Amino acid sequence: MNNIFLIGFMGSGKSTLGKELSTQLNYTFIETDSWIEEREGKTISEIFSEKGEGYFRKKEKEFMLQAQLLDECIIATGGGMPCFGNHMEVMNKLGTTIWLDVDENILVERLEKEKQHRPLLATSENLRKNIHELLESRKVFYDRAKHQLKNPDSKKILKLI
Ligand code: S3P
Repeated sequence: MNNIFLIGFMGSGKSTLGKELSTQLNYTFIETDSWIEEREGKTISEIFSEKGEGYFRKKEKEFMLQAQLLDECIIATGGGMPCFGNHMEVMNKLGTTIWLDVDENILVERLEKEKQHRPLLATSENLRKNIHELLESRKVFYDRAKHQLKNPDSKKILKLI
């Protein structure tokens, strides 16, 4: 199974880089958030506010169950997906996992502009602190990726694979 899973914190560039790579490699591009939004007919923010985070995580699990069928896909995962269930283990079986490890300061800068679409951060009054704490709690999962790329661009990723 020739898939590439891009994992990492919100704002780490999974979607942007995933799209670029899928064109370069002629792979199919899949975003787990878009997959869930299409199936639910709601935005991620609506799903969180109407049904709660637990429901959203169940949808991510459903994606993982279907992922067994994928081949030659680049998958941009939601930032929390690797941190629930056995998702890292499953992704490592189904393809190459790459942690897009972007400096915390860059994440804060990007997410200051984009936090309204991220229900976990949208109402944050101390974004830097919330990002730091969430990132620290997630590193143990991201760290299980086959590759870790510091401040990646698509050239760095192409060299890896
Ligand atoms: C989340 C990240 C989001 C989205 C949801 C939850 C998280 O995806 O899945 O808001 O738990 O980190 P992005 O990483 O694409 O922002």
